[in-house]
Amino acid sequence: MTYTLEDLRTIIGNKQILVYGAGNQGRGIIQALSDQGFEPSGFIDKNPELQSRVLAGLPVHSPEYIMGQDASDTFFVVVASFFFEREIAEELEAQGFIKGNGYISYNALKPHDYVVEVSGVCNLRCISCPRAGSNSVERPPVMMSLANFRQVLAKIRREDPFVGNIQIYQWGEPTLNRDLPAMIHQARENGILCGVSSNLNHPADFRALIEARPECFRISASGTDDLYELTHTGGNWKAFVANVETIAGLRREIYPEMKVELYYHRYKHSIGKPQDQVAELCHKLGFEFHPVPAYLISLDDVLAYCEGMSLPGPAQRVRELLLVDLDEGLERARQEALLECDAFRVLMINADLSVSICMMFYNPEGNTVADNYLETPLEKIIAERTKAPLCVRCRKFGIHRYCGVYAKISEEERY
Ligand SMILES: C[S@@+](CC[C@H](N)C(=O)[O-])C[C@H]1O[C@@H](n2cnc3c(N)ncnc32)[C@H](O)[C@@H]1O
Repeated sequence: MTYTLEDLRTIIGNKQILVYGAGNQGRGIIQALSDQGFEPSGFIDKNPELQSRVLAGLPVHSPEYIMGQDASDTFFVVVASFFFEREIAEELEAQGFIKGNGYISYNALKPHDYVVEVSGVCNLRCISCPRAGSNSVERPPVMMSLANFRQVLAKIRREDPFVGNIQIYQWGEPTLNRDLPAMIHQARENGILCGVSSNLNHPADFRALIEARPECFRISASGTDDLYELTHTGGNWKAFVANVETIAGLRREIYPEMKVELYYHRYKHSIGKPQDQVAELCHKLGFEFHPVPAYLISLDDVLAYCEGMSLPGPAQRVRELLLVDLDEGLERARQEALLECDAFRVLMINADLSVSICMMFYNPEGNTVADNYLETPLEKIIAERTKAPLCVRCRKFGIHRYCGVYAKISEEERY
């Protein structure tokens, strides 16, 4: 069910609004609620590193804050988590919060999440990524222009007014697009916060980038020194560390509230000492350290594997380095096969303006629902997507839960 502003005002009444999740989605919902005249009073987040901090001018509380007898009379909670909505809802219900009255999911306000791929190009060839060479067809190596980005923002705003955040990367390296700072700035001017993820190997204009104030900055890494280059293939550890330190200095100087998380891919070669070294670097620089078990990120290869084909060379090499093997990930995903697909609510607009059926598949063949986002109404995109044969093939093996399974393992290990 999607709520109108009036519905929302009625069900919230005099309660204090809290947003559960202080990440990308949570900050976007705070932005959208504030834009619509609501006054959210804070965040809830499990991450102890965030608790007692002030983000977007609001305090971050631990989940204990909403435990206790009167909590469901005092607070109204908007759950803003991409992968953990169900688990958080169960937690809230155990505390007496009722769905639709005491809490709602963010997608009851904002039915779609948006990924806008501003760069169709990458500087690395990580062996876990389909760009390393796979059975997939190459994507067109194009950059989104600033003019197109502006039009994309305007269409999102028109068709989905509750969108307060977008992700501006998926398969490419966003810092390769020279217009990135102008894009982030433009989005913020339109009430939309941007989440960026970078391998930080390209010497971009980092000052201009931080001055544009991306809301969430993810830095991706795996291993240190020579081992770093094994899975961040083509990357250079020293250049990476120098850029990490530059970002830390600029953040301190320009935008200390910017969320920076180092998303650390855990492989057999990157755990232990290298992991401790990167955790220590994060601690020193004031970044969140977010270790995750690495997985094969190309669902094209994963689906082909389930359908009886062998993995391409780079994917086979990376499989040998995984801590949680592909078969184990798939088995856990199969056990959740009846649950819904988290990626289905995401609309992925590619650098050439085509729209993917699924953001988790790299290959554009059989995965394109519209050739030009700007010329295709949202309802038409949704209607076409609902019939996609790719979804039927993916669901058959439970692969739609595969990425979420790894995210879940990462949370189990962290908390
Ligand atoms: C393919 S990358 C492209 C964006 C950007 N070039 C970067 O490196 O962050 C998109 C996201 O996938 C994540 N990622 C890449 N390889 C991964 C792996 N093997 N396991 C888990 N996450 C991975 C990255 O951390 C990043 O946030």
